[in-house]
Amino acid sequence: MNLLTFDTHTKLHESGAGIITGLVQTNPRAVLGLATGGTPVGIYEEIVKSYQRGVVHFRDTTTFNLDEYVGLPEDHAESYRNYMNTHLFNHIDLPRAQAHIPDGNAVDAQAECAHYNMLLEQAGQIDLQLLGLGHNGHIGFNEPDHALISGTHVVELREETRKANARFFDSMEQVPSHALTMGVGTILKAKMILLVVKGADKAEIVHRALTGPITTDCPASLLQTHPHLVVLMDSEAGRLF
Ligand code: GLP
Repeated sequence: MNLLTFDTHTKLHESGAGIITGLVQTNPRAVLGLATGGTPVGIYEEIVKSYQRGVVHFRDTTTFNLDEYVGLPEDHAESYRNYMNTHLFNHIDLPRAQAHIPDGNAVDAQAECAHYNMLLEQAGQIDLQLLGLGHNGHIGFNEPDHALISGTHVVELREETRKANARFFDSMEQVPSHALTMGVGTILKAKMILLVVKGADKAEIVHRALTGPITTDCPASLLQTHPHLVVLMDSEAGRLF
C-alpha cells in the first residue's frame, strides 16, 4: 500500500491526474475504472487540462464507471452519466461507445447487471480503478453488509448514503433508493487501485478501512488485500496516519 498525503488539493488533483494520464500515455488502450462523487472532480479537471495541452489522448481507451442510480433520467443533473459527461467525457476525445456506465433505467435491472459484467469480461482486466470512499466505508455503492457481492448488482442504498448524497439533490426524497454498482470482486481484480480521500469527515473511516480489521462491515477494508493500492489523501483525511 502506498499512502500519499498532500497539503493542497491542487497538488492532490495533479498527482491523481498524473497517474491516470501517465498510464494512458504508456498504454493508450488502457481500461480505466472511473468514479463519481465530489472527490474526483478536481482530478477530472486536471485530466482535461492535460488533454487540452495535447499530452494525452483517449481515442483507444475504454472506461467503466463504478455505479449509477436507478430511475434517474440519463439527462438528470445528478445521474452519473450526466456527471461524467459534464466533468470529463464532453471535454476529451474518448469515443462514447467506449465509455461504459450501468444503465439505471434498464427495464430489467438484473439483465443490465449481467450485460455490464459481460462487457467487463470482454474488456479484460481493468488497468486502473479510481475510487472514492463513502463515510460508512462503501466503495462504488457496495454498502456495509454481512456479505459482499462480487459482480455488478442492484443495491438498496443505506439511509446514511442517501443523506450524504442529498446535498446534490433539492431534497432527500429525490435521492434514489437503489443503484447499480460494480461488485467488490470486480474492483479488486483491477491491476491498480487509486483511492482518493478528502476532508476531515473521512479521516476516521479511511484510517479504519486501511488499518482496521478486514470486514464486509467496511467494504473499503478489503482494499488492504490488494497488491497495488495507491491512496491519495489531503492532510485532513490523512491526519490519523
Ligand atoms: C458516492 C459514490 C461513490 C463515492 C462516494 C463518496 O455515493 N457512489 O462512488 O466514492 O459516495 O462520494 P464523495 O466523493 O462525494 O464524498
